Order: sequence, then C-alpha cells, then structure tokens
Amino acid sequence: MNAIPVNDLYTDPSLFPGLDVYAVAGNPITHSKSPAIHKRFAEQSKQAMHYGRLQPAIGQFTAAAKSFFAAGGQGMNVTVPFKLDAQALADVLSSHAQLAGAVNTLWIKEGKIYGDNTDGAGLVRDLRAQGIQIRGARILLLGAGGAARGVMGPLLEQEPTQLVVANRSNAKADELVNLFTDLANDHAVQLQSRALLELEDQTKTPLAFDLVINATAAGLSDQSPLTINAASHVFVPSSFAYDMVYGKTTAFMQQALHRGARVSDGLGMLVEQAADAFLIWRGVDLSGAIDPRAVLSELRS
Ligand code: ATR
Repeated sequence: MNAIPVNDLYTDPSLFPGLDVYAVAGNPITHSKSPAIHKRFAEQSKQAMHYGRLQPAIGQFTAAAKSFFAAGGQGMNVTVPFKLDAQALADVLSSHAQLAGAVNTLWIKEGKIYGDNTDGAGLVRDLRAQGIQIRGARILLLGAGGAARGVMGPLLEQEPTQLVVANRSNAKADELVNLFTDLANDHAVQLQSRALLELEDQTKTPLAFDLVINATAAGLSDQSPLTINAASHVFVPSSFAYDMVYGKTTAFMQQALHRGARVSDGLGMLVEQAADAFLIWRGVDLSGAIDPRAVLSELRS
C-alpha cells in the first residue's frame, strides 16, 4: 500500500508518486460519486491509481485539463457543464463521442488527448442488467438536450422497433431526429420527433411504450416533463420508466409507479459509464476483475 494519504480533493500528480492519477472535472463537483466509484474499481482490480475531483471555474476547463495532463494526469471524466469543452479539447474522438456531440472520458496517449462518451453504453448496460430488452422495444426518450443526445447512438444500435424523441421545444426534437436519421435507417428503427404536449393526443401517439427514459432537466426542479394526461397513456403496467437523475424518486418516476410500471433512477448508469471509462484507461482485460453491480449495491446501501 502507498503511504501517501489519498484525498480526492487533490489531483496534482506530483502529490501521488507511484500512482497513476485520474480526476473528474465539473462545476459544481463536491457531491460527485465518481471518486468513490473509481476507488472501488481500483481496489477490486488492484490498480495503483488515485482519482480526485477538479472544479475548474466556468470558462477555465480547457486550461485546467491541459495543465492536469501536462503535469502527468492520465485520464479524466468530465461532467456538467464541461462536456462540450472536453469534446473541443480532444485531438482524437471516438465515433460515439462524435455522435453524442460531447465527451465524458478523456485520456492521454503518446502526447495526444483522446475523447470518448460512455454515457449511452452505460445506460444500455444498466437497462440490460435490470432485465430490460431494448431490441424490438418501443422507446420514448424525453428531452433533446445533451443528456438525450449522448444516449441516442447506443440506443439505436440496440435496434428497438421505434424511438420517439419528445421535447418541450419541438424544433430541438426535430434537430436531434435529423442528426440520427442515417443511424436509425441503418438499424431499421422508426425514429420520430414529438413536442411533449403532443403526447397528450392519443391519435398521434396511440400506443403505450415499453421503455420511457427521462433525459430532461425537469426532475431538478421536482417537475415531470409529462402531463398527467400524457403519463396516463404512455405508461402501462408492463412499461419501464428510467430517470437519468439519481438519488430520489422523481415526479416522473411517481407517475409511472402510479400506473403500475417499474421504475429506475440513473445511479446504475453512472456506475456503468464509470466502468467503461475505467476499462478504457486501465485495459479491457480488467473487465472480469471489476464488478459494477456490486459497486452499485454498495452505493445504494
Ligand atoms: P442536458 O445536457 O442535461 O440535457 P440541456 O442541454 O440544457 O441539459 O437540456 C435540458 C433538457 O431538459 C431540454 O430537453 C429541455 O427542454 P427544452 O429544449 O424545451 O428547453 C428539458 N427541460 C428542462 N426543464 C424542463 C421542464 N420543466 N419540462 C420539460 N422539459 C424540460
């Protein structure tokens, strides 16, 4: 064991000789669960690493990330509001990062900064772990901001029958659908956009959905993006309602529970996207050595 006190408030690699240093960058970042998650993955797979948190001032992400990597930092997770800055910073982007329009995972290799986005893969794995079949499903995705865009590609690749993107502002839902039309066609998915209010109209949206994902920011202000009327016909008892927010039963989840549907918050997605980042950094051969579902149970208890 290394004798240096491991304090996740610190990210300067010179403070952690002998350890590879990683960080999560966001603003605010105080309540991030990422350091605890990566610490457990490192313990499970016996990796000599330190993972801290970094809070660059707004507008200072690029400078902070560059100095972190210049000082010997190996990799970084990026969260709100810096995912677009992280995409701009990366020299090389994965196809998922390109499609998502945002980067949540950075690493350095031979002097180049690489960027990927593991949010969508994290969501898909969490759904699968909860027994949700995406192939052939009818999915309703609520929201058309960064969170929704980040998961579109991996969801379409799972080949649901239909993916309806519904947003408060119709234009943003249309934009997202246009961006993903080719990928949807490649996977024979019917991709459609709606205004949230149109979900009230059963002639336009006649069937209930197998899976309803809330990627709006409505939960942060204790609201649901669905009106009572819309909720009453998009949910049936066999639906699964997934809120990307974690740590509470949101108004959206309560509407689904009221209709007898199963619900989940987004904590599993957080752990699974972290697992993908960890394996990118430390090697996919460690996939059998880490146990994201055990880490998720620990976080919940
Ligand atoms: P993020 O990166 O978290 O997706 P964002 O890009 O600001 O953040 O997008 C926020 C999303 O939540 C948008 O889809 C927004 O709808 P608009 O595009 O119409 O603004 C949605 N949103 C925020 N508050 C909402 C609310 N109270 N009801 C419904 N949708 C809401």
